[in-house]
Amino acid sequence: MIVLGIESTCDETSCSVVKNGCEILSNVVSSQIDLHAEYGGVVPELSCRRHVDVFIPVLEEALKEAQISLDMVDLFAVAYGPGLIGALLIGITAAKSLSLVFNKPFISVNHVEAHLYAALMSQKTPVTFPCLGVVLSGAHTSLVRMDEIGSYKLIGETIDDAIGEAFDKVARQLGLNYPGGPKIEALAKDGDPKRFGFKAGKSKEHPLNFSFSGLKTAVLYTLQGQNKLSTMPLPLTKQNMCDIAASFQHAAFTDVVEKVMSAAEQYHCKTLVFGGGVTNNLELRRMIQEKAPQLRILWPSLGLSLDNAAMIAGLGYHNFIRKGKGDPLNLEAATRIAF
Ligand code: KG4
Ligand code: ZN
Repeated sequence: MIVLGIESTCDETSCSVVKNGCEILSNVVSSQIDLHAEYGGVVPELSCRRHVDVFIPVLEEALKEAQISLDMVDLFAVAYGPGLIGALLIGITAAKSLSLVFNKPFISVNHVEAHLYAALMSQKTPVTFPCLGVVLSGAHTSLVRMDEIGSYKLIGETIDDAIGEAFDKVARQLGLNYPGGPKIEALAKDGDPKRFGFKAGKSKEHPLNFSFSGLKTAVLYTLQGQNKLSTMPLPLTKQNMCDIAASFQHAAFTDVVEKVMSAAEQYHCKTLVFGGGVTNNLELRRMIQEKAPQLRILWPSLGLSLDNAAMIAGLGYHNFIRKGKGDPLNLEAATRIAF
């Protein structure tokens, strides 16, 4: 079955052709990083306009790379949420229009669920469920028990900022452009992770929930010299920036590792499935691998961590098989979706 996947939830426009849920024939991603860099985050109105401008060229490129034409597509899959409403509408309208014109079914996919499927789709050996799904992206930080593809239980999530969002905001405090994650990772390599005793937030009632907003504010007050970690404004020398980045990253990942290990034990999961842009970070991978040598750890392969349409097409295939039919054409975009 040939599936054309479409992704437009936030600041990437992507089309991908995937065969039988896992064989990626093309995965074309047009990023809007240049457009939003100077604003420190995604500007929704600009994002929508860019999706409209680039959708057709991205689609054409994906078909060309896969060496197929639109009439060879069996199913059109689209991320229907969560995301920015205007951006979602563009992808959904494109998928519905293609489905109508070519008289082939259309299927909706949850973008966050697709981030977890990204790590599953490249596995050569079968995966044993239940798995612990860990989504670490610009908009989400979630722990889910995955009983099978399509069956999940949310067991922890952020109560304020998402982890990627915290990386982006701390980078901005250091005068760095969006997206901040890769820049923080690069600075942290030459920094002292113990210089500032930063800590991520804890929730007494829900110990598997995350909180990164206080951590981000602790970094800000330290830079401004307004807390016990520093009583004078901290000049942005190269070494200070590296130490701030390393200490922030260490605090965020120590918290993730702790909660992942505790959730895996509590929910009897022997396999960890990671998804989302923050999983590109090699220090995160090192820390998890060090703490969990007894567990099977699945990471998204190259090109599948950040937003992309291959994960949408792949999961779309499974959703279609499970439902036995496509979704109705009056299906609407969902800016928020509960797991
Ligand atoms: O999954 P994604 O494309 O977006 C959402 O669906 O939300 O992830 C983007 C996020 C951004 O916040 C970016 O700063 C972060 O992933 N990111 C990283 C790294 N690469 C991307 N964070 C930490 N270290 C990285 N190497
Ligand atoms: Zn995403």
